[in-house]
Amino acid sequence: MLSSALSRVRSTVSRSVAASASASASASCFSTRSVGVRSYSDHAVSFMHVDTPDNNANTPFDFSPELYKRIDQILAKYPPNRKRSATLPLLDLAQRQCGGWVPLAAMNKIAQLLEVAPIRVYEVATFYSMVNRKPVGKYHLQVCVTSPCMVKGSDEILHALEKHLGIHLGETTADGVFTLGEMECMGCCVNAPMIAVADYSNPPEWRYDYYEDLTTETAIKVVEALRKGDKTLKIGPQNGRKNCEPQGKKTSLFGEPRGPYCRDL
Ligand code: FES
Repeated sequence: MLSSALSRVRSTVSRSVAASASASASASCFSTRSVGVRSYSDHAVSFMHVDTPDNNANTPFDFSPELYKRIDQILAKYPPNRKRSATLPLLDLAQRQCGGWVPLAAMNKIAQLLEVAPIRVYEVATFYSMVNRKPVGKYHLQVCVTSPCMVKGSDEILHALEKHLGIHLGETTADGVFTLGEMECMGCCVNAPMIAVADYSNPPEWRYDYYEDLTTETAIKVVEALRKGDKTLKIGPQNGRKNCEPQGKKTSLFGEPRGPYCRDL
């Protein structure tokens, strides 16, 4: 009985593998990320450092005098024996100075300033997805691919952007304007599907904007508006609704909310 159950499982698995292989074979040149599937190589690329001519331990890096003043202010917030608490703020400063990414040499510099082993900085930089460890475009488009956004069409948006920009997930356009990435839930599922755009067009400042309630068409419109520097582009919902209120008429919360309930003691 056990062996027949096992053989049923094996046959189901081989059917799925065969189906997935055939789907890959018939894929276009753009990635066909299917529901919940991420290739091992994507995962490995996220965490491994590979030396390149502009990103290795010998690449010159130092903070600007202006940022050293900011570093002094940041370090003053922590006890001298807890300097490592400043790892994230210093990674942020390095990312601002480098126009959206943190080279290995900058992480080593931060380790030296905080008097910790470099691995302590690497492990923070690899944990937080807002730290980019390779150069990104002026606009880093991060498509949310968690379940609510996926159910509402994030895969279609991802593929439409790949096709529109002529790049694959994780790549940057030849003109250096856009990098296409993906992200897990960014907390506005009620406005799914959405894209967060990290805007590094005005260094050392940068901002994170959410574009929500997207369709493939409005996602491409957002991208083109960013390319043109269109000042009329509104962040937030792109379907006309206000924040996360229901579209059309209200369906609840018609009166003044009642105060908090309190047990009669
Ligand atoms: S699932 Fe996309 S914002 Fe939550």
